[in-house]
This record gives sequence, structure tokens and C-alpha cells, in this order.
Amino acid sequence: MVSSPVSSRLPVFPWDRLEPYKATAAAHPDGIVDLSVGTPVDPVPAVVQRALAAAADSPGYPTVWGTPALREALTSWVERRLGARGVAEENVLPVVGSKELVAWLPTQLGLGPGDKVAYPRLAYPTYEVGARLAGAEPVVYDAETFFAADAAGTELDPSGLKLLWLNSPSNPTGQVLSAEQLRRAVAWAREHGVLLVSDECYLELGWEADPVSVLHPEICGGSFEGIVAVHSLSKRSNLAGYRAAFIAGDAGVLGELLRIRKHGGMMVAAPVQAATVAALADDTHVAEQRARYAHRRTALRAAFEGAGFRIEHSEASLYLWATRDEPCWDTVAELSKRGILVAPGEFYGAAGERFVRIAFTATDERVQAAVQRLSE
Ligand SMILES: Cc1ncc(COP(=O)(O)O)c(C=O)c1O
Repeated sequence: MVSSPVSSRLPVFPWDRLEPYKATAAAHPDGIVDLSVGTPVDPVPAVVQRALAAAADSPGYPTVWGTPALREALTSWVERRLGARGVAEENVLPVVGSKELVAWLPTQLGLGPGDKVAYPRLAYPTYEVGARLAGAEPVVYDAETFFAADAAGTELDPSGLKLLWLNSPSNPTGQVLSAEQLRRAVAWAREHGVLLVSDECYLELGWEADPVSVLHPEICGGSFEGIVAVHSLSKRSNLAGYRAAFIAGDAGVLGELLRIRKHGGMMVAAPVQAATVAALADDTHVAEQRARYAHRRTALRAAFEGAGFRIEHSEASLYLWATRDEPCWDTVAELSKRGILVAPGEFYGAAGERFVRIAFTATDERVQAAVQRLSE
């Protein structure tokens, strides 16, 4: 018997509440159009599949820090794509998909009761889960105003705060923080000795904005002190099934995590390490995938606006953040009758209670079906 189940600290798994609406949508004669979970549906790029297959004969244990080839791929990608300078091996660390890192980072950093972890009021739910798994206190801030010129940080009490999550581009809103806002966030975190961790897993999916990394010298001033960026190949390379992600930044923080994760056996599978090297060396598949999403986004945006929705933010990421100025569950229910499933905004925080999140991770055929149904 477990005397005090850790799971009792966690919120109810929200997706179970969507099941009845999923059943309604699935009953549509032409089948469900599932725009709820943002899971990739397009093929794993051939160049990546080949690299995975070529590394299939991997009988030995992989290392937590990764092969020299993987470390080289990570450091050069961070320099090339994020514009960071002076990235050494000590500034990168592979992780087993970024969700695992988000959920366990506070615990691995030794946070616990009395410590606080802050994240945006509307956010990917795993930031809260990570705080609760560690027994730390979750606190929220408003990403729209927190880094405003006249009020940077005033909303958040730095006492006891150990970890500040940024997420730009944001899930669920698609909001992108400007370079100026990021600079203020970095300055605020450094001033108060708070570790700033920037989840940048949608960085390559900007549509009406060009997202910038906190590791860019114009943001961090050329030093990675006190900052870590989180990157994932799940969305940019259709690799959600591979669990391929990494972090980059402060060598002291990453070194500590490496020591802990070695003891914890948190290593990326060797064939996935090889696949990651191939994926990061190839920009062609990223451009192709972006083009697919851009097309679906344009079609869905017009169709939902035509059906009376107002779309806020959504300048980047894989989602449209939409409202009909009614409770989100009413919108979910109405759309499910048309065979379309979307995620209620409430899943991402109480501030989302009148919004829904529409993922454009569906095939062209399914997107077309949604467009047709919304026009009827
Ligand atoms: C903001 C954000 N961070 C992290 C993740 C986790 O991605 P993965 O575990 O596939 O790397 C997601 C997944 O949707 C996300 O939206």
C-alpha cells in the first residue's frame, strides 16, 4: 500500500471529460475531425526514418548526455537556428521528449514545499503538474502583462520563487513574446535569482511573428547564466512518437541535471539519438511541414471566422485560440454535433473558460471536411 499517493496531488486528467463529446463527433456519418490533441499526423521524414533504421542494431546502453555526434548536432543547431553564440557540449542535454522534462524538472532541481514555480495563467498543464509532483507551490502570471514595459514582474512576488516558466510561442494561445519582453523577463529573473526556463518547442512554427530564443545574444546578453531553453522535435519533425527533445543553456544547471539523470536512467534510446542527429541536420523537411501547417491554418482560420468565431493571438504554434463569447463547453458541444472535436480552453486555465483551442494537426482531407461542415 502507498501511504500517501503522489497522484492525489495532481489535477484530474482533463481529457477524460472530453470523451462524451468525442463519441458524439465520432458518430458523424463522415467520421470525426479531431482538432483537440495537437498530435502530428504526417509521415516521419524519410531521412529521419533511414537514420533510425540504420541505428537499429544498438545492443549497448546509450548515455544520458548522448553520443558525441548528438552533442555536436545539438550545439550546432542551437548556434545556427537560435543564433546563440559560444555553445559548448556542457550547454546541451538530450531529454526523453520535453513533457518528461517539464514534469520532472522541479523535482530534479530539488524543489519542494516552500518553493514556488510560476507559469503563464493560460498554459500547457504539465508546468503545474511538475510543481505539484515536487510538492512545490504552483503560481500563475499573466503572460500578456507580466513583461510590459512599465510593470515588468510587478505581478509576481519573487519570494520563494525558484523557477519561472516562459512559453513562447504559447500553447494554447499562440502568443509570441517580443524580444523586448524576453529581455525584461531575463533581467527580472536574474535580478531575483530565479531560474528562467523557456519552453520554445514551437519556435519554428511562427506565422505572423518570428519567435526569438532566450539564448539569442540580444536577449541573454551573450551569457547563459540562469537561463535554460527547452526544445522538442515532436512538432517540427513529426517525431512525437520517437520522444526526441533537448535542453540548452546554463552549464551549471545542465551539469546538475546530467548527474541526476544518469542515476535515474533517463537516457534517450540510441536509434532515437541517431534519428535526432539526422533531423537537426535537415531543414528541408521542416520547411515542407511548415507549408502543410500554413495551408491548414489558413483554411481553418477562414472557416471558423466564417462560422462566427473570433480568433485571438494565434500568431504562432499549431493552434487557433478561438471564442464565440460563450462558455467553452457549449462551443465544444455544438461543434461535436458537427463531427468536429476541439479542446475546451478551461483545460489550460480558468482564464480560458470562454475559448476553445483548435489544433491544425489533422490531414488535409480532414481539414477540408471541417471546412465543409463549418460552411453548412
Ligand atoms: C508547450 C509544450 N511544451 C512541451 C510539450 C511536450 O512535447 P514533447 O513531450 O512531445 O516534446 C508540448 C506538447 O504538446 C507543449 O505544447
